[in-house]
Amino acid sequence: MKLEGKVALVTGSSQGIGQGIVLGLAQAGANVVINYRSHPEGAEDTLAKVEAIGGNCHIAQCPKSHGYTVQADLGSVDEVRQLIAESINHFGKLDILVNNAGIEKHAPFWDVTEADYDAVMNVNLKGVFFATQAFVQHLIETKRTGKIINISSVHEELPFPNFTAYCASKGGMKMLARNLAVELGALGITINNVAPGAIETPINTKLLNDPEKLGALLKNIPLGRLGQPQDVASLVAFLASDDADYITGSTFFVDGGLLWNYQEQ
Ligand code: BGC
Repeated sequence: MKLEGKVALVTGSSQGIGQGIVLGLAQAGANVVINYRSHPEGAEDTLAKVEAIGGNCHIAQCPKSHGYTVQADLGSVDEVRQLIAESINHFGKLDILVNNAGIEKHAPFWDVTEADYDAVMNVNLKGVFFATQAFVQHLIETKRTGKIINISSVHEELPFPNFTAYCASKGGMKMLARNLAVELGALGITINNVAPGAIETPINTKLLNDPEKLGALLKNIPLGRLGQPQDVASLVAFLASDDADYITGSTFFVDGGLLWNYQEQ
């Protein structure tokens, strides 16, 4: 298995894309730290699924469980640092960081409150910045290479009216990856963005329950369907593996063709 012996942390993995990524990494043989903010039952569900996969492990020195859950709010830098420290403490090291946790708030630009702006930026950008910093410090201290994968969005490129703070955070994530690819290259650390389009997860609950909006969105997706968490997870597992050693500073879209779809009606 491609990720045998590796340890990965996936932020925001009690549901949705994060849970799918945890399962993809576990299937590839990694030990995985599952992080949640407010859904311990979701984290337990992810862990149970990891254990079902790990049940296939026949090696004597296999850890009891290939998964471990940690509560932390990515919007707090203190908690972010604690999360990285606990992950390292539990499995003895970290090799892969998947910055997945993200939130969005809907409002016309002129109505956005400072609290909502801060909430989005703190989780989607500041949390990613300092989680990545703590991970890189660990790699430097232990003289090892590693892989960083950011779960961005088509909206690191594509405007999304009424979600300006969200788009600004994802645009920031795009430049964070480009910049760190250069700065971390000499350390053998790679960083890439995976940019999902419309994936069927709880972040989209409102949309999924609105047939009119959903129908209009589906018309914009050349492949004619929403994505599933596994569609994102398989790419993340590849980028986390040695097969992707020469890939850094890039964004990979998983969007059924949504981003580049323009047609005259
Ligand atoms: C957002 C979703 C949106 C999708 C496609 C994602 O980044 O989180 O709310 O449906 O992009 O626009």
